[in-house]
Amino acid sequence: MAAPRDETHFGYSTVPLDEKQGRVDDVFHSVARRYDLMNDLMSGGLHRAWKDALLTAVNPPKGDRPFALLDLAGGTGDVAFRVAEAGGANTRVTVCDINAEMLAVGAERATSRGLDHAVTFEQGNAEELPYPDKSFDCVTIAFGIRNVPRIDRALAEAHRVLKIGGRFLCLEFSSVDVPGLDALYELYSFKLIPRIGAAVTGDREAYQYLVESIRKFPRPPVFARMIEDAGFRRVSFRQMTGGVVALHLGWKL
Ligand SMILES: C[S@@+](CC[C@H](N)C(=O)[O-])C[C@H]1O[C@@H](n2cnc3c(N)ncnc32)[C@H](O)[C@@H]1O
Repeated sequence: MAAPRDETHFGYSTVPLDEKQGRVDDVFHSVARRYDLMNDLMSGGLHRAWKDALLTAVNPPKGDRPFALLDLAGGTGDVAFRVAEAGGANTRVTVCDINAEMLAVGAERATSRGLDHAVTFEQGNAEELPYPDKSFDCVTIAFGIRNVPRIDRALAEAHRVLKIGGRFLCLEFSSVDVPGLDALYELYSFKLIPRIGAAVTGDREAYQYLVESIRKFPRPPVFARMIEDAGFRRVSFRQMTGGVVALHLGWKL
């Protein structure tokens, strides 16, 4: 019988740790072609403002200074494109994602935006990154860490591949604690999002997983402690939109 430590959450279900990644991969394989449209529909376009806030925090250099960003679980490239467009001539972004279908959509979008020279799409697992130690100035992950089965390993890997003085920035759904807004958010999440997901992608379960996985993700102070445990220093976070999302920051010093 599997020990409790070999199990994890897949939404509200408990699954063997080794099975979670396969289930997550099925979700994103299923929704990849409609992923960007769904983000706009579900968030009313707000995901753009949250990603813009992440870009402001990344603050890529404008001049000729080389800047290497790794966008983990970068999917269809939203964060990568923002950084590549805002950064200077020597800004380079590597999108690393485990899902070939999400990467294929991202690579097509990069070509149509004329960003092939600045953004590279590579398949890889956040728990076991295919990059040398100390190779990036900044590591970002947006709405990705929640899906990774062994979060501690992914954080340790982000720390390993960062240069000394580099920053880790994580944007993730969080917990709404504003009275009134919390009830409305619950209603919207559980009653509407799976229905919108079913209508747009044909995969209700994928969006049921989304709302459940958000509820299972550690609250900001707990997640901040996990980031510290991975070796990051001066860890901080701020919540946005009444706690719908949180942006965590940690330094490799
Ligand atoms: C919700 S999407 C976020 C995509 C993008 N960062 C964005 O904000 O639009 C989550 C992504 O995490 C990826 N993912 C899940 N597990 C992963 C892992 N172990 N390593 C790398 N990527 C993973 C999925 O394939 C998916 O593209």
